[in-house]
Amino acid sequence: MTDSLTVRDNRTGTEYDVPINDGTIKAADLGKIRTDEESPGLAVYDPGFVNTASCRSSVTYIDGDKGILEYRGYPIEQLAESSNFLEVAYLLIHGALPTKAEYDAWVHEITFHTFVHENVKEFMQGFRYDAHPMGMLMASVGALSTFYPEAADIKDADNRHMQIVRMIAKMPTLGAWSFRNAQGKPFVYPDNDLGYTANFLSMLFKMSEQKYEADERLVKALDVLFILHADHEQNCSANAVRSVGSSQVDPYSAVAAGVGALYGPLHGGANEAVLKSLKKIGSKENIPDFIKGVKDGNERLMGFGHRVYKNYDPRARIIKKAAMDVFEVTGTNPLLDIALELEKIALEDEYFVKRKLYPNVDFYSGLIYEAFQFPPEMFTVLFAIGRTPGWLAQWLELVQDKEQKIARPKQIYTGDRELTFTPAAERWA
Ligand code: CMC
Repeated sequence: MTDSLTVRDNRTGTEYDVPINDGTIKAADLGKIRTDEESPGLAVYDPGFVNTASCRSSVTYIDGDKGILEYRGYPIEQLAESSNFLEVAYLLIHGALPTKAEYDAWVHEITFHTFVHENVKEFMQGFRYDAHPMGMLMASVGALSTFYPEAADIKDADNRHMQIVRMIAKMPTLGAWSFRNAQGKPFVYPDNDLGYTANFLSMLFKMSEQKYEADERLVKALDVLFILHADHEQNCSANAVRSVGSSQVDPYSAVAAGVGALYGPLHGGANEAVLKSLKKIGSKENIPDFIKGVKDGNERLMGFGHRVYKNYDPRARIIKKAAMDVFEVTGTNPLLDIALELEKIALEDEYFVKRKLYPNVDFYSGLIYEAFQFPPEMFTVLFAIGRTPGWLAQWLELVQDKEQKIARPKQIYTGDRELTFTPAAERWA
């Protein structure tokens, strides 16, 4: 017996058999359901794509009810514990873990491409002193397409690989420079003797010293954060990358769209919002009032809730531990006490329990970033650097998927029809 759905259209009395594959029906099959030849076929109304699969993907698996996250089948906990960001990036892009030779070649390639054209530096210096670093990052990633016009040839596998390497390599350089611009400090060139994450810290914080040496524990914590953010299947920014990429534009333009999506407070911008909330709460005594405001619908508890996870976000658990490791180096942050207490109260409160609202990846990450002395505007930039291999893995899958088409949803038109236009001179006479 094949899996199928029998649908009876009560408007006409006609029955249809709609095949079910992989737990889904094809929206196009519903389109065959119509009242007569002229009428439009039945469509699905799904704002926010809450129950629509837009692609087949073998990059990331999530079971939101059980709190499981796997990249290419490997549990996030194991990767965070025993891998490193560049190895995870290789895994996401290539679909399998590298051999020693493949890993060495990958690290060499990425390291070799960390520098950007001097013109990139010049135009980044042209931003206003108070430009938000995410705005700068979005613009500069998009601008890379003008430096590598050959990136438009997305059908060529070697060419695609070249742009993927360039983007993963240059993202920390662009991110660090957007930070230095806001600080009014000179831009620091990449130090290719350093590993990926240590080099990023050097470009952020190096001043007059010959060599910037970051605390190894901090390098590890930031590397873990990059791993945790590396992909999250069809989230808002991955969907933006895929949607823009479906026009067959170059990958820099598609990833710039992803950066734009991540900028928003409901997505990557939430970590910045969490910190603002914690500061606004100010002390543990004010938590009940704050929670009441959330329950009355005056505001949201940022860093809580997730479209997919209806259980503790597995990334939040790892980040909570990483936060403790970082505080051992930097000393604790009084906001941590507020966060811990807020989490405790929220997890016991009926409002949050009923709606299955648990801490997500952003609840503790902001505290770590603050311990690194990043201003809140930089938090989402860190998220973007970590997410870049995921965006690119999604893009790579998209451009090789024969079932994909240009993204073009339907609408339910609610406006006027067939009005008669009167020229302005007559209307205003
Ligand atoms: N605080 C208070 N109430 C909430 C929250 C929250 N953070 N999140 C959801 N709710 C309530 C919401 O009001 C609704 O209640 P009701 O049924 O009474 O109307 C119910 O829970 C369902 O919420 P929803 O908005 O329909 O859920 P969604 O799946 O559309 O939204 C979300 C998911 C992540 C946008 C949302 O939970 C939220 O705004 N969270 C705060 C922002 C945040 O932390 N974002 C980071 C997400 S993780 C990182 C990333 O992937 O970017």
